[in-house]
Amino acid sequence: MRSFENKTIETMFSVAQLQEKVSELGQKIEKDYSNSEAELVLIGVLKGSFIFLADLVRAIDLPLSVDFIGVSSYGDATESSGKVTITHPLSKSIEGKNIILVEDIVDTGITMAALLPMLEKEKPASIKVCTLLEKPSRRKADVPMAYIGFSVPDQFVLGYGLDFAGHFRNLPFIGVNKTDG
Ligand code: IMP
Ligand code: MG
Repeated sequence: MRSFENKTIETMFSVAQLQEKVSELGQKIEKDYSNSEAELVLIGVLKGSFIFLADLVRAIDLPLSVDFIGVSSYGDATESSGKVTITHPLSKSIEGKNIILVEDIVDTGITMAALLPMLEKEKPASIKVCTLLEKPSRRKADVPMAYIGFSVPDQFVLGYGLDFAGHFRNLPFIGVNKTDG
């Protein structure tokens, strides 16, 4: 338990657990792409992935570049609608490149299921998803995930990039708000 922004946060994954998982994912990616000809580009889905992506790229000892894409999906406050809009475009063409799309969490899967075909139209050499977290019990759309950090129960998680109403991204670990009332 830790107090942060006057809330009581219970740890789900500690800083050490996150570091260990990120280095494991980085090593897997390094192994999978070490003999690949095409340029490797890691694309972070804004904003939740920015901390995970920053740590992940430092765990991959290969030439690579980084880009970001912003998406928003309209629906009620707690669930994606399936209508995904690009709010921040990629800065460079992904044609002929090996793409790893980096997400903080795949929840219903609706965002990724809409984003993947949009990116596939741009003819990358390959495209895979790397997500730090996933909530299998909430899945509504099928998303092929090549790299998964942790599966989590149906609880709203915060920290390490993940927000609640824009806050808590700077919490160094992943936790759950246990504040009463
Ligand atoms: P999906 O389209 O339902 O898979 O939603 C994915 C997006 O919803 C993620 O990229 C997050 O930004 C957000 N999200 C889903 N669950 C959580 C959570 O438990 N904490 C913080 N953000 C979440
Ligand atoms: Mg997100």
